[in-house]
Amino acid sequence: MQSKRIIIAIDGYSSCGKSTIARGLAKHLGYIYIDSGAMYRAVALYAIRQGWLTEKEIDEEALHRHISDIHITFNPNAHGVQETYLNGENVEREIRSLQVANGASRVSTLAFVRREMVHQQQEMGKNKGVVMDGRDIGTVVFPEAEMKLFLTTSPEIRARRRFEEMITKGEQAEYEAVLANVKERDLRDTTRTESPLRKADDAFELDNTHIGVEEQLQWALNMFHKITAQNEQN
Ligand code: DC
Repeated sequence: MQSKRIIIAIDGYSSCGKSTIARGLAKHLGYIYIDSGAMYRAVALYAIRQGWLTEKEIDEEALHRHISDIHITFNPNAHGVQETYLNGENVEREIRSLQVANGASRVSTLAFVRREMVHQQQEMGKNKGVVMDGRDIGTVVFPEAEMKLFLTTSPEIRARRRFEEMITKGEQAEYEAVLANVKERDLRDTTRTESPLRKADDAFELDNTHIGVEEQLQWALNMFHKITAQNEQN
């Protein structure tokens, strides 16, 4: 018998492998994967293109006025990998730049941006069967999620991974600068007034600094089976 579909919320710091586990779980379970960080990145890209988000400032008033014009969707590419669309345009590559990442970290501190994104995320999860990763999924977006994970990894390892990724892509990078950026984003994510990153009381914490991807996925799948078996009994 197919078990009842649930919501899986995965939160944690930037670059701690949330999306790898989330994608793996979604694939194994036939669930939909939603990358909530991509949504904040798409908002930042929209604001950059309109000239409302520069290195120095954000035109909050203009962004607020147009926030409901921003529609974000996800569609699988030819390889079945979900890609992000902003008002119908595929922006998956563009939203991964460092400029957009920094912009996302700034726009995600604004209450009206969070309100709109949380609303869109809740709509996406209303039929359950989703794995969503981010910073506030288990605390704000789906506080009732049946399964919650909170991932942590040392900043040095996260910076090393991000640095190697950039070098592989042929981008210019310095390890020290990447580490400083990781720490700066952690600070902003955990200290902002609106929905700061924190572990939900009922989330399982996993420090994956020394754990491989396969092992993490097995661990998460075991947890999923335990939770759904328990739900079936109740
Ligand atoms: O996970 P990411 O690096 O793609 O996220 C981009 C930014 O968006 C990051 O600075 C944190 C923010 N974010 C958030 O505030 N809430 C979420 N649920 C997901 C991401």
